[in-house]
Amino acid sequence: MKKVLYIYASPLMTNPKGSSCTEALNLFKKEYEKLNPTHESIILDLNKDPIGQASLTAHNFEAFFNCGKSDKHIQQLKSIDKVVIASPMINFNYPSTLKNYLDRILVANKTFKYKYDGKGESEGLLKNLKVQLLMSQGATLGWYPFASHVDTLVGTWKFVGAKVTKPILIHGTKIPENIQKNSQEQIKNHKEKIIEATKTF
Ligand SMILES: Cc1cc2nc3c(=O)[nH]c(=O)nc-3n(C[C@H](O)[C@H](O)[C@H](O)COP(=O)(O)O)c2cc1C
Repeated sequence: MKKVLYIYASPLMTNPKGSSCTEALNLFKKEYEKLNPTHESIILDLNKDPIGQASLTAHNFEAFFNCGKSDKHIQQLKSIDKVVIASPMINFNYPSTLKNYLDRILVANKTFKYKYDGKGESEGLLKNLKVQLLMSQGATLGWYPFASHVDTLVGTWKFVGAKVTKPILIHGTKIPENIQKNSQEQIKNHKEKIIEATKTF
């Protein structure tokens, strides 16, 4: 029996029109569960879980890594098989709740071997994981060449040794022809890709 962690990271999850990456994740989860009824689904909503709320600062530096939360979430990642993340672009990056989570789990000698040993010398320690990213952004792909929340997340998960499947990006959600759409309409053209991705995940 495989274990799948579903991470919700959109601050727009409670938007009356819905959240497109959350809608994508819910569809992915539903279809994946249909195909794999014995697999366990674990939910992590970073808008609710305290792990999403606290940032690393000069005033909590020691406690941040030693209070047990970091180890708890690293242990969770070591004990599961797959991670599916829903994340929009917020001010040219992924949401800060997701950064707070990553700050807890990106720990030298726990999720990767020390990164300053030399270029290409570090080794990811989460080789057990497969990751699917379900992403969204208001702008059309390519409008902000300096910003890619997708590439940053792909690189980060690869850095810790995970196998990252092809990300799905729902882009252009805020351009004039899409802005009035609700989240179900926003993901309409991506549904097939999402369902297809569940078959090989
Ligand atoms: C505070 C805030 C900042 C945003 N920043 C960006 C941005 O930098 N680039 C972009 O393309 N879209 C940006 N957006 C638009 C969202 O990425 C877009 O609406 C996305 O579809 C919302 O996520 P959802 O998948 O939860 O619906 C921003 C939205 C909000 C609310």
